[in-house]
Amino acid sequence: MLTIALSKGRILDDTLPLLAAAGIAPTENPEKSRKLIIPTTLDDVRLLIVRATDVPTYVEHGAADIGVAGKDVLMEYGGQLYEPLDLRIAQCKLMTAGKVGAAEPKGRLRVATKFVNVAKRYYAEQGRQVDIIKLYGSMELAPLVGLADKIIDVVDTGNTLRANGLEPQELIATISSRLIVNKAAMKMQHARIQALIETLREAVEARHLG
Ligand code: ATP
Ligand code: PRP
Repeated sequence: MLTIALSKGRILDDTLPLLAAAGIAPTENPEKSRKLIIPTTLDDVRLLIVRATDVPTYVEHGAADIGVAGKDVLMEYGGQLYEPLDLRIAQCKLMTAGKVGAAEPKGRLRVATKFVNVAKRYYAEQGRQVDIIKLYGSMELAPLVGLADKIIDVVDTGNTLRANGLEPQELIATISSRLIVNKAAMKMQHARIQALIETLREAVEARHLG
């Protein structure tokens, strides 16, 4: 059995067409089903439906052999995983942002984010002392109500920032989703996983050639 961990929403939407190139399609709609283990058109391939931030955990521990996760999530997770393919889906940027026109604070910078490890590394590299405030969502609110001076979050169109009177500031990383593979599975099922990687690589390239 080959087990693939995916999260609902944009990653599932953008990964299913790529998996279809390998003859893998869910036998029921994961967005509608309450089931968390979804069989596919291949008897020996199944999907696990997990939270986006949990995908690396399932794959690193071998509960799933393969997964798809945003580079932002992988940067935050760390861990021991193979990352053999950029699927070029769910593209966005990881950025700092703050209130439009706000001056830099005099004292320590307060940064609200769900990417605590990324934030620590980013400011440590700049030799800047900051207080990091862990949030689980709606980061854009923090500067508006005085919880933080800045946020670190993913930005695509910038609409969410604009709607809240914030502006993008520094680019931390350009982000896309990656195929990740459990290290032991890569050894034990090498031929099969390598074949799947190559099929997906071709599907990604075909998609970008138009
Ligand atoms: P959770 O549901 O666990 O809170 P999430 O809300 O981050 O996670 P998604 O919104 O499905 O999950 O995002 C999955 C990935 O898609 C993110 O890790 C990021 O790489 C990318 N992403 C997030 N927001 C956008 C966006 N607005 N445009 C493009 N890609 C995005
Ligand atoms: C993400 C992220 C930002 C927003 C950025 O949220 O946390 O809030 O998208 O996208 P933008 O720059 O295009 O506004 P979420 O996944 O909840 O929102 P979405 O599904 O509406 O993109």
